[in-house]
Amino acid sequence: MPDFRIALTSLLAVAALSACSGGTSETETSALETARQAAEAAAAEETQALGDLSWTKGAMVAAADPRAVEAGLEVLRNGGHAVDAAIAVHSVLGLVEPQSSGIGGGAFMVVYDRATNQTSVFDGRELSPFSTTAQHFQKNGETMGFIEAWQSGKSVGVPGQIALYKAAHDAYGASDWDSLFTTAISLADEGFEVSPRLAELLGSPRLRQFVRLDDDPIPAAYFFPDGEPLQVGFKRTNPEYAATLRDIAANGPDAFYKGPRAERIVAAIAEHPVLPGDMTLQDLEEYEVVRRPALCGTQTIGVKICSAPPPSSGGITQNMIMGLYAEMIPEDADADTRLKTFVDAQRLAYADRDHYVADADKVTVPSDDLINLDYLAVRAGERFAPDATPTPGDPGLALGRGPMRGMWGQDPTEDAPGTTHISIVDLDGNAVSMTATVEAAFGSSIMVDGFMLNNELTDFARDPSAGGLPVANAPGSKKRPRSSMSPTIVFDEAGDLLMVTGSPGGNSIIAYVSKTLIGSLHWGLSAQEAVDLPNIIGRGKTVGVEVDVEAGPEAAEMLRQAGYDVQEREGENSGLHVIIVREDGLEGAADKRREGVAVALK
Ligand code: DON
Repeated sequence: MPDFRIALTSLLAVAALSACSGGTSETETSALETARQAAEAAAAEETQALGDLSWTKGAMVAAADPRAVEAGLEVLRNGGHAVDAAIAVHSVLGLVEPQSSGIGGGAFMVVYDRATNQTSVFDGRELSPFSTTAQHFQKNGETMGFIEAWQSGKSVGVPGQIALYKAAHDAYGASDWDSLFTTAISLADEGFEVSPRLAELLGSPRLRQFVRLDDDPIPAAYFFPDGEPLQVGFKRTNPEYAATLRDIAANGPDAFYKGPRAERIVAAIAEHPVLPGDMTLQDLEEYEVVRRPALCGTQTIGVKICSAPPPSSGGITQNMIMGLYAEMIPEDADADTRLKTFVDAQRLAYADRDHYVADADKVTVPSDDLINLDYLAVRAGERFAPDATPTPGDPGLALGRGPMRGMWGQDPTEDAPGTTHISIVDLDGNAVSMTATVEAAFGSSIMVDGFMLNNELTDFARDPSAGGLPVANAPGSKKRPRSSMSPTIVFDEAGDLLMVTGSPGGNSIIAYVSKTLIGSLHWGLSAQEAVDLPNIIGRGKTVGVEVDVEAGPEAAEMLRQAGYDVQEREGENSGLHVIIVREDGLEGAADKRREGVAVALK
């Protein structure tokens, strides 16, 4: 195993670093001020159509399964928009990767449409039923444990995925709606080969200990035929999923949100044998996807980072970590300092995210203030010991608007493997970054019509108060739970598409995705080099370090020596899919920790 410093230093292009690391010396102060003004101007800028629309960089799809990627490439070959390809890719993933996402779950999709120079977000996050109260996960005066809440009907949010497909297709689709489901339908009819990851999960004693998949006759028959978990290479048909997609292809979202399928969803939740939920037909019928402006921040190094706004943490945390890193990194920092600075930037951003981020349709979230460069300059100066828990910052105070901290109690939630990320660039230079989820592995374990229902409501704070204060992310009626999903699109100084990135991984998503941004934009790494870096998660008091990959043990040791409270981690759950636009075309990367590929259109 090479020494961490050598391994990492050889990855970090020093020239690129000194060009982009951004310090705060005297001479740089006015540059910083100019950049801040530019950032404000950019934030106010109206969308304008680009003049020259010729795109010569080609197209690419990066996602968690080669069969899904091929379905997307086929759509692009036939002139589809990136949005069309994303729907085709995702409808296949719902079949071959049911542990991660599907039409019983939700997603955030960031779309860049080049002709209109528009970047917008389709928020297909699950919504809690109307009847949900802050006490949703309380029982006999106690807060339920995660597993009890997860394996129940109470964890299921109204799925947003199909409504998202439709809204994004109505806005940007170039292919016929029904053509987007043909690959998934034939694979479901004819059978798909079970992948090693799916087989491994189903065979895992730990999974079987906690999830009810083999206790419930419907998922048991599908995933455990003859009582045994599906084996690698087994050809699994799913005629019910094929029938569901045929219905959606022919009749649109009504085939899901109304009528007999909606009745079956409501019944499955109400008839949960252990802990039923109370979603109604009206909850399903009233679901609406929300189209929101992307949350974008222009960084001092000139790039603009756009991701999903609340209830996602993506736009806030990705901009915060990049901005804090640029403020905190000393000039001529060595590899160890770069890594420590990245960790500290994360810890400050996570502390703010845990405190402020929730459904901004229901509570006040100071999104723009949190990514304001003036706030980040103040926040970067709030130093703390390596093994201390950073407290949340106060953007209101820092920006002279009156204190904001103290409104909410702190809310850290857990991680889980029920998410997937898709990155696409099409032949016209449009892009999609979509992270989709059923929350934990196989969602709530409730299977209806060939797909899994999510357990997204466990992304709410199960305990609605902390330290005597209400928590912003407490459950509530028709509320969207906070998400860590960070589907991200980056633009260069000229406003041209530069990068598409995102990952699954629970609340570690924030660290995984920022690793690709810092790795490629500050450290000059290729997409694959950035993805391959050890995952290092600085949240709260501890720093999680992935030690079963190259340079991981050395990073853990260096941080330990520097006084950090290091938690060694193995089997990290990232599934990064990254596309970077280079001078001569697209460079893609898929995370070797999962089964995905990044494939250019030939
Ligand atoms: O929205 C969220 O933040 C979580 N439901 C994501 C869960 C996840 O990524 C599980 N992991 N692979």
